[in-house]
Amino acid sequence: MITEERLVQIAKRHGVAIESIEPLSLADRVEALRACLARTDVPYPIDPKFGEPYLQAARSGERFAIGSLSGDSVELGPFRNTQDYEAYSPEQHLSWACLVAEQQKTKHRYACREYLDGEDTFAIGGTVIPDFYSLNARIYQQTGWQLATVNMIIPAELFFTCHSHRFFPVTTFMRALEQDYLQEPDIGHDVAGHVSTFTIPVVAHVMRNHGIARNMIYERRDEELAKCTSEAQRGRVARRADELLLYAERIYWFTVEFGLVMQDEEIRAFGAGILSSPGETIYSIDSVLPTRILIDPSRESDLLRLATTDYLISEFQKTYFVTEHFDLLESLTPERIVAIAERASRLPHFSWRDIVPGDRVLQMGQSAVGTNEKYFRLKCQEVGDECLARTAIRNLRWYASGHHMGLDLSKTWSGPVATVPPSMIEWFRIEDAEHGFTVVTKPLSDE
Ligand SMILES: [Fe+2]
Repeated sequence: MITEERLVQIAKRHGVAIESIEPLSLADRVEALRACLARTDVPYPIDPKFGEPYLQAARSGERFAIGSLSGDSVELGPFRNTQDYEAYSPEQHLSWACLVAEQQKTKHRYACREYLDGEDTFAIGGTVIPDFYSLNARIYQQTGWQLATVNMIIPAELFFTCHSHRFFPVTTFMRALEQDYLQEPDIGHDVAGHVSTFTIPVVAHVMRNHGIARNMIYERRDEELAKCTSEAQRGRVARRADELLLYAERIYWFTVEFGLVMQDEEIRAFGAGILSSPGETIYSIDSVLPTRILIDPSRESDLLRLATTDYLISEFQKTYFVTEHFDLLESLTPERIVAIAERASRLPHFSWRDIVPGDRVLQMGQSAVGTNEKYFRLKCQEVGDECLARTAIRNLRWYASGHHMGLDLSKTWSGPVATVPPSMIEWFRIEDAEHGFTVVTKPLSDE
């Protein structure tokens, strides 16, 4: 339990007036919601047939679960959650207020213009955690999207199913006071990070299209499953669909979650993962530590680069991709996302440290390596990090099973990817058959 005195000190350190942390009463929340629902000067006015029961549910104290302002909904199963607004403690509201205050200090310098406009539209900010009833209504009115509360990180398949219905899954917990980076999304990430980006049309377009791409992948899977005659066949078909979704997810990761964009000849952030961490916001743009690579998502090779790159969740990103211009993300149609995912499954993959021939490198990060270094590190048991090991093992299995035969990689990557020596593949084939490789890690500081 943190003492009152300590809370005051923390608030002061972040420029937050402790007396401004006054959660709204139920009556105040309902009144704010009633005024919001009545608005007609918005792109998606709320039909009273949905608005009235919605207001009634809020008034009766029912906890917010899934937005119900349109005829559509999503089934969350065991991941369904509710927002218990009354249960948030003063510490949790203060944690939100401090995060928002820190964001204020960085976002005007580092966030793209559209993100800042979106924040004004949704009135994100303030000194208390937003009430999801009102927030969901504001989001729906501006974008047609709604919120669906979940209790933890949900499977990618369900996450993108929600996107196909224009629902965004949000958690209800708030990070600990002064925690800047966390692996699991919280309200700070989902709301202070993502919600403002919904108003950026190309970002909403990329999000929705990932949802539709997920449906295409799994509908095809279901058709193929119906024709399977053995468990082994069924397993292969199911794994293949999950694999394709993973490659699609990487495109989402490097754009919607951790994307940078050129604006007025400067690099700006639009990724929610970046903008929900004031520390990573500065780091992603100003630091000399990470690699930054310029991409044009309308080019197949650049999109393949995203889909074949394994990423890092345990700390700040080590490679960021900088989209040349927002409009180029328009090219991410569901059909194209699926086609790229299928092609990615037939190519070698890269770790977050690899520099690939043809990369337009704006900043070479301190931990960048050539595409072959990971194999030699694996052989010497000097892998250093999980992502490097995972990628090396995946590719060696892929090479060992002969998939590379006849594939001209120089066309894909605008230059030759160094050939993995046959002796290395043979060594791996034997070792893998005898012991089976699993990902090995050790701290980077040991390198
Ligand atoms: Fe996210």
